[in-house]
Amino acid sequence: MFSQHREDFPTLSGEHPPAYLDNACVTLKPQSVIDTIHRYYTETPGCGGRSVHRYGTAVSKSVADSRNKLGQFLNAGTPNEIVFTRNATHSINQIAHGLSWEKGDVVLTSDREHNSNLVPWLQLEQEQGIDHRVVASHPDNTFDMEAFEAACAAAGNSLKMVAMSHVGNLDGIEIPIAEITKVAHDHGALVAVDGAQSTPHMNVDVQALDIDFLSFSIHKMCGPSGMGGLWGRYELLENLRTIQSGGQTVQTSSYTEATWAAPPARFEGGLGNFSGMMATGAAIDYLSQLDMNAVHEHEIALNRIMTKGVKDLPGLSIIGPEDASKRGGICSILMDNLPAHDVALLLDEAAGVMVRSGQHCVHSWFADRGHPQGSLRASAYLYNNEEDVRRFVDTLTEIVHTLS
Ligand SMILES: Cc1ncc(COP(=O)(O)O)c(C=O)c1O
Repeated sequence: MFSQHREDFPTLSGEHPPAYLDNACVTLKPQSVIDTIHRYYTETPGCGGRSVHRYGTAVSKSVADSRNKLGQFLNAGTPNEIVFTRNATHSINQIAHGLSWEKGDVVLTSDREHNSNLVPWLQLEQEQGIDHRVVASHPDNTFDMEAFEAACAAAGNSLKMVAMSHVGNLDGIEIPIAEITKVAHDHGALVAVDGAQSTPHMNVDVQALDIDFLSFSIHKMCGPSGMGGLWGRYELLENLRTIQSGGQTVQTSSYTEATWAAPPARFEGGLGNFSGMMATGAAIDYLSQLDMNAVHEHEIALNRIMTKGVKDLPGLSIIGPEDASKRGGICSILMDNLPAHDVALLLDEAAGVMVRSGQHCVHSWFADRGHPQGSLRASAYLYNNEEDVRRFVDTLTEIVHTLS
């Protein structure tokens, strides 16, 4: 469906392009993003936001443009609700360590969180005495609304934050954020969504979801590495402490006092990744020309082929429901008898199939379920085609039959 887009990605051109199926980790970059990075260094390699010379002004304009585009993409109320960060991890840490906590404040996460949306809360538990609680999913990893409502009720007035990933990188399962938010808000809690695996693959409208914060990885959205983003409702950002104070974060300072800058500058301390911010605009331009619902459907169609091809292989089982439409573009496979890393290496060496192996930073889930070697995870994106996923299925089938 998106076959014409393959030529926009230089690593997919040439005679033997890889079947790149590690998109849940990082996506490939279109030429327009690469060109924008190159343009910054060759044409305007200055400092945005401060220097008023031609380079500085060009960068400032371009960064503002990127912020606008990102704001529109997520339906933010104003572009000033968009903060550029290093990655989603940085964004989540900015939320967790920027809010004020009291001992016993309850934070709920799911039992399928990436370390980036687990460890910051564990750290707050250790250091500030918050009460981090985990809401168990159904046995097939889908969201258990009843368990969530019960956890909210049990926490009562102490419930302060619900922090959950919109789509899990472990299994591709989406959780009903709008319903979750309604319940959380009824209890007076904030909702911080980890959108690292949703913003690249579907329409995410922060106002329609009615959430309070959204963290995301621009490097998973065809954008440059070293770039992430944080969206927050403006009045919340206005009251959030920055976790990186210094240049850019203040209106003014004296020897004794700092007067904080308004968001988003307050959270963007130090000289920024300007080429990254500028290229973010190119990445959002790229995604904005697509129908994101169609991207999502395309990934599910590819996942159906992967699912059908691997589900009955001996010793293999897919994490999550068998129905691929409930797992987006992610097919994460537990292997009873084969080492996941070795299989991943073989897939690449034998057929140029690139997937991820291991625990995908969701150690907690694998530890709890007793799968220390993790899984083999294939994750599709808009530029993948049937040939890619069939190559994955055929090569994996051969490996399984040869090695088992
Ligand atoms: C669900 C989820 N949350 C958070 C992260 C961390 O993202 P980043 O590498 O941008 O910090 C990832 C990365 O894989 C992820 O999949």
